[in-house]
Amino acid sequence: MASPYDISEIKTRALAGTAAAGTVSALEAVRVEFTGRKSELAKALASIVSLPPEERGTFGKHANAARREIDDALAERKAELEAAELSEQLADDRTDVTLPGDPYPRGALHLLTQVRLEIEEIFLALGYEIADGPEVETEHYNFTALNTPEGHPARSSSDTFYVDGSAGTILRTQTSSVQVRVMEARTPPLYVISPGAVYRRDDVDATHSPMFHQLEGLAVDEGLSLAHLIGTLKHVAGQLLGSTEYRIIPDFFPFTEPSIQLLVRWTDRAGRSSWMELLGAGMVDPNVFSFAGYDSERWTGFAFGMGLDRIAMVRHGVPDLRLLFDGDLRVLEQFS
Ligand code: DAH
Repeated sequence: MASPYDISEIKTRALAGTAAAGTVSALEAVRVEFTGRKSELAKALASIVSLPPEERGTFGKHANAARREIDDALAERKAELEAAELSEQLADDRTDVTLPGDPYPRGALHLLTQVRLEIEEIFLALGYEIADGPEVETEHYNFTALNTPEGHPARSSSDTFYVDGSAGTILRTQTSSVQVRVMEARTPPLYVISPGAVYRRDDVDATHSPMFHQLEGLAVDEGLSLAHLIGTLKHVAGQLLGSTEYRIIPDFFPFTEPSIQLLVRWTDRAGRSSWMELLGAGMVDPNVFSFAGYDSERWTGFAFGMGLDRIAMVRHGVPDLRLLFDGDLRVLEQFS
C-alpha cells in the first residue's frame, strides 16, 4: 500500500507559505503548521513503519529531504524578516534633528529680588555702598553693641532663635547687626546699606513669617542731622512708591536717639487709602559709636531699617506674606 501522504505537495505548500509569511510571527505559525509535531509531515514520517518494507527507504529519504528543505527555507526567511524588522525599527527610532527642541523655560527674578535691586539702585545713586553681614550672628552685634544690653526685652527668647550649643549665637533678628561690623571695619565718612534675611519666632499668620527681609541703612559723617535723614528718606520713598504725603512720628529704638518712624500715604489697588509704616530710623546713639570705637564728639550719623517683604506686598498687592516664600510659580510668574 502506498503512503497516503504526498510529500512533494506538502513541500510545495510549505515553501509557498514560508515565502508568503510577512512577519516573524506569521512565519512561526507556518513552521508549526508544516514541521510541528502535529503536522502532516510529522505524521507522514511516523507512518513509514506501516509501509511495505520495500517502499520505506525511498519514502523516508524523500520525506527527510523535504523536511530539510523546508527547515532551510524557514531559517532563511526568518533571517530575512528579522533583518527587515530591525531596519524598520531603526528607521522609526531615528532622531529628527530638524524638529524644534523642548522649550527651556526662562527664569525670572523673584519679586523680592526685584524690589531689593530697585532699592539698592536708589541708594547707589545717592553714593551709598552695599555691605553684607552674617545671618548667624553673635548677641554682641545683634543686641549688645546696639545699646540693647542683656535683660532687655528685645532679646526675649520668645522671639529670637538661639543657636544650640554655641553660647551667645543667634540668627540675627535685624539687619541692624551689620552697623557695628561695618563701623569696626571702616573709618568714616561712610554711607552703606545692607539688605538681607532676618529671623524671628513670630507667629505664622498672613503678615508674619519666621524669616523675612530687611534693608538697613547707616550714614556716618561730620555734621549729619535729622534733616539729612528725613531728606534722604523722603527721596527714597518718593522714588520707590511715587508717594508724596509723609508723616514722621516719634518712635523708640535702643540704638537711635531720637528715633522716628516714617509713614507714607498709600492707596492700595482697591482704592483704599491709609498711612503705612514704611520704616524705622533715627540718629545713631552715641553708645553705639562707642561700641564701634568712634568718637561721638566728632561724628554723627543716622540709621534706618525697612521691611523689604512688606514693601513688596503693599506695592504689588500681595495679600499674604507666605506667598512670597512658597515658590509657587503661579504666583511668581505674575511678577516676571
Ligand atoms: N532694626 C529695626 C527693626 O527690626 C528697624 C530699625 C529701626 C533699623 C531704626 C534702624 C533704625 O537702623 O535706626 O525693627
